[in-house]
Amino acid sequence: MKNRTFCVANWKMYMNKKSISDFFKEYNTYNLNKNNSNVIFCPSNIHLEYISKNNNILLGSQNVSHFKNGAYTGQTSIEMLKNQNVSYCIIGHSERREFCNEDNWKIKLKFDLIINSNIIPILCIGEKLKDRQNGKVKNILEKQLHDIFINFKDNNKKFIIAYEPVWSIGSGKTANVNTIFETHNIIKSIIKKYSLKNENIYLLYGGSVNEKNAKSISEIDNVDGFLVGSASIKPLSFYKISLTL
Ligand code: PGA
Repeated sequence: MKNRTFCVANWKMYMNKKSISDFFKEYNTYNLNKNNSNVIFCPSNIHLEYISKNNNILLGSQNVSHFKNGAYTGQTSIEMLKNQNVSYCIIGHSERREFCNEDNWKIKLKFDLIINSNIIPILCIGEKLKDRQNGKVKNILEKQLHDIFINFKDNNKKFIIAYEPVWSIGSGKTANVNTIFETHNIIKSIIKKYSLKNENIYLLYGGSVNEKNAKSISEIDNVDGFLVGSASIKPLSFYKISLTL
């Protein structure tokens, strides 16, 4: 691990072999030594091997099955991800919560499988717009964190929490600096209750991060990096975002 900061590319279902190859052709021409953060690429599982074979990068998965192994058609197990040299795994992304009906129970099963495999989870949490408008942000985050950490004993393990307000993802509406600062403080105060070690927890912001707003967000005291969606498929934008950390 380079330092405390992370720049995570969430490629969602955007890329194919040709666009991945074009991405790295350009990205690898930039001065990557200038980068001080841990840059992690999360392609679709089907491209994990393809990108790790051709590039020296940190690899993450966008998802994992909540089952350990067995007769579960179409699923990818944590063991399979480990075989592909995955060292990070996103869970609880709002798109999976919304479009794949993932609830906290399933996310907790995934979290435990990941932690027990020595992969670092990137746990996404965040409120919907109506929750923010109704003053429910703390309650929502409390519930999302409680269900994961209530019986969590292994406080020597590292993990990443990505605060991603749902209204900000893919909308071009980045949360403002004060909102991010305040909400990250709320998250820190919630996780304190679970006797986790602060130095093992990294707090990222995600939601319409781009090369224009990255600098001001990176300067917020309690931000340890970014989870980047659409701007991460543009090599120069993603490179510039990573340099702010
Ligand atoms: P976005 O996505 O940067 O396109 O808003 C972020 C995410 O979904 O992780």
